[in-house]
Amino acid sequence: MADQDLYPVPAEWAARARVDAAGYDKLYGRSLADPGTFWLEQARRLDWIKRPEIAGDWSFEAHDFHIRWFSDGKLNVSANCLDRHLAKRGDQIALIWEPDDPRAEPRRFTYRELHAEVCRFANVLKAQGVAKGDRVTIYLPMIPEAAFALLACARIGAIHSVVFGGFSPEALAGRIEDCGSKIVVTCDEGRRGGKKVPLKANVDASAAHAPGLATVVVVRSTGGDVTMQPGRDVWYHEAAEGLPATCPPEPMGAEDPLFILYTSGSTGKPKGVLHSSGGYLLWASLTHELAFDYRAGNVWWCAADVGWVTGHTYILYGPLANGATTLMYEGLPNWPDASRIWQVCDRHQVHTVYTAPTALRALMKDGDDFVKATSRASLKLLGTVGEPINPEAWRWYHDVVGEGRCPVIDTWWQTETGGAMIAPMPGATDLKPGSATKPMPGVDLQLVDAEGQVLTGAAEGNLAITRSWPGQMRTVWGDHERFFQTYFSTYPGKYFTGDGCRRDADGYYWITGRVDDVINVSGHRMGTAEVESALVLHPKVAEAAVVGMPHDIKGQGIYAYVTLNAGETASDELRAELVKWVRTEIGPIAAPDKLQFAPGLPKTRSGKIMRRILRKIAEGDVSSLGDTSTLADPAVVDDLVANRVEAG
Ligand code: WTA
Repeated sequence: MADQDLYPVPAEWAARARVDAAGYDKLYGRSLADPGTFWLEQARRLDWIKRPEIAGDWSFEAHDFHIRWFSDGKLNVSANCLDRHLAKRGDQIALIWEPDDPRAEPRRFTYRELHAEVCRFANVLKAQGVAKGDRVTIYLPMIPEAAFALLACARIGAIHSVVFGGFSPEALAGRIEDCGSKIVVTCDEGRRGGKKVPLKANVDASAAHAPGLATVVVVRSTGGDVTMQPGRDVWYHEAAEGLPATCPPEPMGAEDPLFILYTSGSTGKPKGVLHSSGGYLLWASLTHELAFDYRAGNVWWCAADVGWVTGHTYILYGPLANGATTLMYEGLPNWPDASRIWQVCDRHQVHTVYTAPTALRALMKDGDDFVKATSRASLKLLGTVGEPINPEAWRWYHDVVGEGRCPVIDTWWQTETGGAMIAPMPGATDLKPGSATKPMPGVDLQLVDAEGQVLTGAAEGNLAITRSWPGQMRTVWGDHERFFQTYFSTYPGKYFTGDGCRRDADGYYWITGRVDDVINVSGHRMGTAEVESALVLHPKVAEAAVVGMPHDIKGQGIYAYVTLNAGETASDELRAELVKWVRTEIGPIAAPDKLQFAPGLPKTRSGKIMRRILRKIAEGDVSSLGDTSTLADPAVVDDLVANRVEAG
């Protein structure tokens, strides 16, 4: 890396931050040298009903596979996020809600008010029969009730499973059924970028495929028309009438589940990633404090959707555990225009904004004037997450948005990791555009080659993690064997991330992207197998293969190859119909950007589709397809190349 690509820690950050460069080395060193003491010390940042005396208790080995943290501790997550702040900062704003429509009024909730709302919500859930350990599916847009609902589950020990509002009724039904939840919390409609999303109608449509669904709690948000099914559907405001605004927090074991969040993998259906109460909250709180040097009084804005892990950890659990003022925004960063995200920063005097590279690339494309039309004087720190950030977008964020004065905190992590794993600390870490820099305390990284050989020094390979950390997922809901197989069987004794990564001579980590069949579309994970399964459900489709392709704004786009059943004819209408089909089956985020009709797919003689070739063609890199002689029918490749859908 050339020296000019190094952005040293600004002097004022080095002076005022909690952790400076020497501090980082010490912290990291200690976390690995004496993890037992280190983690029990860290556990003190939480309020325990019973303080743990055991830290990590885990093994990644097949014969003794288990992961537990603080297993003798007892706590309640919502009490950690609310009750314990009441004495000191009951009147401080906990949650600021910024509406989609810039002319509408924001809403603000103090810790005391948020506590009351969460308790009331918890009482509604209890009145609907929800008990400790039950699964509650939450299908809500970015409205304050989403925060109330998640924390209410945590309060009574119910396990929430949030389904992103952009998922279709079919996808929703699959997630309701998989975790066996009998109740869904939704609202009449969502609102994004001036458009309405028919959430309640989607729940109605999902019910046909979710026979176990017995209760739907409906929050009135837009006031749009909905059909209420007697005996199943209840209005939240009616159910809440007369219920108290206090509710005792349920004492939970540290290892009791807090939530399930479905995420895509290389194969099969989405997996229900399960997180625990104690370890997860500790990780959320610690990483929020370290990576962002969070201080009381700072207004914190994580611009993710609460339907993704980033929203769980950094809109709610981390910041609220730390007594922060957290902002939740209903709308899109570039609506009504590309100034909006920065206008929101000005309106609420945001100190740190945390968003995805895809949003930055889209905003960058609209030009600097939209940024310069705003003040941004309150901004001190800029965060990014979700996909590798290209150095151009990084520099634009740093130079134009932050006017050169705000460190860029690029955080690498996954739904499975619970919170940030590789990230700079603003007072400690010199920055390099495009690198998430260095590991968090306790995170022991390894680069391994395809054969499992450990690579040392400057090297590029697959990223594995050799020890457990408190925020690690505990299992795949209902399928512990799949948990082991997916993450611990590739490199025995290690957690395999699925990401490729380079380590430079300074020990900085550079994530190069997924090395499995997961694609990252606008920072959202999508399994190619899921899109393929959706396509082959169409009566005219015989076979489908899906790969990622480079996309200027989204990072990766979806390129689908489709073989039709004998007798069916390819046409532009059918192409449009198939794209629409996938939108309906999974959701708009899964809609292929390009769809090519392919009379045949490149397969080995044993019938395995050679995705490497399909990826090259999708990328437009047809001159280096490599060896195609092992294909059952090499001629199919010529047809695929000739009929490639040009990038548009
Ligand atoms: C990718 C989102 C590079 C990576 C929190 C990972 C990143 C997947 C970064 C997880 C980053 C996330 N730099 N790549 N800063 N952050 N990724 O589960 O491929 O939605 O495996 O979690 O996103 O996506 P997930």
